[in-house]
Amino acid sequence: MGRFIVNGGLPLYGKVRVSGSKNAALPIIFASLITHGVSRIYNLPDITDVKDALGIIGEFGAEIWKEGGVTFIDTSKLSYTVPSLGRVERIRASTYLLGACLVRFGRAELLPFGGCAFSKRPIDMHIAAARSFGAELSGNKLTARKLSRADISFRQPSVGATVNSLIMASGTKGETKLFGVAREPHISALISYLKGAGAEITVLGDTLTVKGGELHGSTAVIPGDMIEAGTFLAASLVTEGRVRVSGFDIGELKAFTSPLLSAGTIADVSGGSVMLVGKPKREISVTTGAYPAFATDLQPIFSTILASARGGSIEETVWRERFGYLVELSRLGLSYSIEDNRLTVFPSDVFSGRASATDLRGGAAAVLLALRAEGESIIEGGELVLRGYDSFAEKLRELGAEIEYAE
Ligand code: UD1
Repeated sequence: MGRFIVNGGLPLYGKVRVSGSKNAALPIIFASLITHGVSRIYNLPDITDVKDALGIIGEFGAEIWKEGGVTFIDTSKLSYTVPSLGRVERIRASTYLLGACLVRFGRAELLPFGGCAFSKRPIDMHIAAARSFGAELSGNKLTARKLSRADISFRQPSVGATVNSLIMASGTKGETKLFGVAREPHISALISYLKGAGAEITVLGDTLTVKGGELHGSTAVIPGDMIEAGTFLAASLVTEGRVRVSGFDIGELKAFTSPLLSAGTIADVSGGSVMLVGKPKREISVTTGAYPAFATDLQPIFSTILASARGGSIEETVWRERFGYLVELSRLGLSYSIEDNRLTVFPSDVFSGRASATDLRGGAAAVLLALRAEGESIIEGGELVLRGYDSFAEKLRELGAEIEYAE
């Protein structure tokens, strides 16, 4: 258990470079299980979800070492095991064991896959995909002597089901077609890793054609984290500071920046970095959705901008119940109402106090409000925030924040 202790009320100034994307790193780590050889991963973020993912593949026998900032993973000699449930329960990406273990070992188990508990998180599409490749489900065990090529149409874009299907398709001989896939930037990062490992993958809109087989080690450069970038851009607006954020693709954040710019915020883009200046001058309405729509993971972060400005609403269509964190933000003065899957945030005079992180992004949002509020705030459950933010307190301190993380 950890907590952030924040002495808020100070505008943030300076430059920050975001770390590698959590949601790009995790699928690649699990996908390495279907390769035979050594993979090199550049720009892996130093976050606890990555530590857990590496710990899990280590339990299968992967050898992992670091040299000069590059992480090497040798998956030449692996054997099946049921990994430690503590790790599996902490991270959502442990679901990627389904596809990876079916390819590598011909068996996989439905385990208590964890991650943020902000909503029901079904995996029926993952299981249906595994069955399409020929796996059989009995109790909590999936087995397949040999996977066979498949044609799969997803009823809605799912990051997780797309990742698992890509992993299975890449490790299976023959041509698989996946229709209606998720198109998040982390899917592109996984595709490029799998292509480097020998899979032939073509992308046409939301259709993937994959020719798989036995794969060798590959190289991945983890792209900058757009959610972390959105968080620091929000920290700048919420504290009325001037923070220049670099290390990510600004185009990926269009759905986040466009409504702000339409409401009067100015974007200063130069040399691969961006700074947002001036709070929005009008109410803003956004709707979350699969990429390239507004990212649901930025919903809690965006609510802090709305509260610090003229308010607005967020319609949540990905995780319709993803509002549990707001009770905690209200302890710091955020005023809101919820009707069905629509959140309305009112302009709020936030104040210091105690709040808890209910999940990763909700916890980060609480820290942002604490940075705005004058005086000392304590955000409990800080370890949930460290699941996805590399050196969060350190980076904020570099920008002038008074913030400590204490175990
Ligand atoms: C991933 C991200 C998470 C993000 C989410 C949506 C990781 C580790 N996590 O989660 O941060 O919030 O994408 O961008 O990358 N669904 C089903 N059945 C399924 C699978 C999904 O109905 O079998 C539904 C879900 O209920 C949800 C939607 O599909 O409404 C999207 O979920 P999905 O993209 O699969 O999210 P995750 O991969 O779990």
